[in-house]
Amino acid sequence: MNREVQILPDAAAIARRAAEKIVEAAAIAIKERGGFTIFLAGGSTPKALYSLLASDPTFKSQFPWDKTQFFFGDERHVPPDDPESNFRMASESMLSKVPVKPEQIHRIKAEYEDAERAAQEYEQDLRSWFKPSAGQLPRFDVLLVGMGDEGHTLSLFPGTKALHDNGRWVMPNWIGKLFTTRITITAPVANNSALVIFMVTKADKALALKGVLEGPYEPEQLPSQLIQPKNGKLLWLVDTTAASKLSPGTSK
Ligand code: 6PG
Repeated sequence: MNREVQILPDAAAIARRAAEKIVEAAAIAIKERGGFTIFLAGGSTPKALYSLLASDPTFKSQFPWDKTQFFFGDERHVPPDDPESNFRMASESMLSKVPVKPEQIHRIKAEYEDAERAAQEYEQDLRSWFKPSAGQLPRFDVLLVGMGDEGHTLSLFPGTKALHDNGRWVMPNWIGKLFTTRITITAPVANNSALVIFMVTKADKALALKGVLEGPYEPEQLPSQLIQPKNGKLLWLVDTTAASKLSPGTSK
């Protein structure tokens, strides 16, 4: 696997590095295929990244807004105007401030009471957009993800059903410890991305990060270990506090 771990001073530096990598990936995708596809994440670090892309004059002018399709890796089971909504966060911090048309934004319809319906419709949206041949998964350019302090990523939490590949692209996933359902893409879809960028900050994640990067492969405990792009690159952007327990050989 093509993995790189970069240790940066803080969340602002991570947002900046992620923005550089995204703009670079977008330029390549547009040169090769005329369009760019990115899956957005929820969480605090991505929010800083979205604000940067939408407000920094250099990034804003470099980003190919009109040639990008925006997707979401996961969503909380709430309507799009709920403060918990990943769509709302991405919209407020970036999408409403840049020149993109509504049809470029593919959101998970988590306002449905039936999360299964939201998952199925989203999978259908992905199928219609990416049109992979039979048995193939969607191939896209960038997946942004975070990691929780117990090793979850997307809405793939330890010990939950969506960890187990049953051929689905998108699943409703009951998260007992949060007493809620979330809707998430599955690991096989995530692993078909050309580039996965993990953004991890804060000391409370240091031990889980060490476990994910240096421990035995136990994805039932640490689902972030499931993320291993097949024909792509895995880039970890971590701050010094989250990286504080890593062995010297782990970073590049
Ligand atoms: C979400 C994401 C989740 C998140 C991690 C880390 O919607 O919240 O699915 O996987 O990326 O919980 O979040 P922070 O970056 O805010 O710590």
